[in-house]
Amino acid sequence: MLKNKKILIGITGSIAAYKTISLVRLLVKAGAEVKVTMTEAASHFASPLVLATLSKNRVLYKLSEEDAWSNHVELGRWADLFIIAPLSCNTLSKMANGACDNLLLAVYLSATCPVLAAPAMDEDMWHHPSTKRNLSLLMADKVTIMPVGNGELASGLFGEGRMAEPEEIIGFIREKYFRGNELAGKKVLVTAGPTYEAIDPVRFIGNHSSGKMGYALADIFFEKGADVTLVSGPSHITPAYSGIQLQKITSAEEMFNLVMENSKEADIIIMSAAVSDYTPSTVFENKLKKQTAELELNLMKTKDILHHLGAQKRPGQFIAGFALETDNEITNAEQKLLKKNADCIILNSLRDAGAGFGADTNTITIIDHAGHQSFPNKSKKEVAADICNYISQKIH
Ligand code: CTP
Repeated sequence: MLKNKKILIGITGSIAAYKTISLVRLLVKAGAEVKVTMTEAASHFASPLVLATLSKNRVLYKLSEEDAWSNHVELGRWADLFIIAPLSCNTLSKMANGACDNLLLAVYLSATCPVLAAPAMDEDMWHHPSTKRNLSLLMADKVTIMPVGNGELASGLFGEGRMAEPEEIIGFIREKYFRGNELAGKKVLVTAGPTYEAIDPVRFIGNHSSGKMGYALADIFFEKGADVTLVSGPSHITPAYSGIQLQKITSAEEMFNLVMENSKEADIIIMSAAVSDYTPSTVFENKLKKQTAELELNLMKTKDILHHLGAQKRPGQFIAGFALETDNEITNAEQKLLKKNADCIILNSLRDAGAGFGADTNTITIIDHAGHQSFPNKSKKEVAADICNYISQKIH
């Protein structure tokens, strides 16, 4: 998504400039071409040498050096996006008034690309009426302002004014400026994580699913422009994009209800959740006391969500299921494909090293009505991309 994108970073004088070093690193790592311009004040907070090394480009901070003039117009026109981070109170006020007494401001005034600014300042400065006034002037000039964070500030005080974290800025720009449109208009419903089936108010039956695979799927479909709803059981993961509609549930019954409700609209449904097959027949109202040497629990089957989805699949809808198997993998997965009327089953075997619950990697075989296709062991993000490509080809 960020590969080969030209991103110009503007750094102004604020202690938060140290965070911009990792922003540059993350952008380069994601494949972007990065150039940095900074104010004289910023060069005291973040080393131009470090930034030049990380960005692989000379840092520009003077309008002219000896007999050379820095071409601000060229720089402003080169970029696909200009990110000013951190944006200090001083530069904010100059930008709002069209001042042009340094290279960064000259580049801002000649930039033809979108401009995103991530302010950083002390809480009192952040709340000052002149800051609010200048920010609204900037927004009227079509500059997008990243919200500030709340927490410890350089002054030692706690409050609003922290510059957004580099990862947040990356997530924001991916979503706002560089989202693909290959699957624009498609509604995708993904399930992820385990379900917890309550025994009593403190205990449950669950499984080791982390949700990584389902969240990676939701992220990649969103990156390709789809409208994504993610129904997730308990998981510590958060979607990479705020535009993903996250609906959290606990039990298989709750997942069933939400999936059925969302399925009517969905063009693509991917059941990657590890839904509990059984749930206690009775949920004890109070905590069970330790009494007898043995305890028997009566369990009943949960509703098979994928089976219900397959039974009411509408023409043009694509339904993918998962199967985690320990033996007779292909045969079991083929049976699931037919029994649940799915369009494909994504099989992973617990016998493969680096596959299954909790791992960062997975090895899959996609089984459909035409045959099966195996993929090598890859990161779950790459596996999600393979699944997304496969489904995109099938529906187009
Ligand atoms: N699934 C479901 N609802 C359930 C159980 C499973 O929708 N109550 C879905 C899973 O999300 C997965 C697929 O069915 O996409 C296969 O799940 P799996 O646990 O491998 O198979 P089961 O049908 O539960 O059969 P078994 O556990 O006997 O292998």
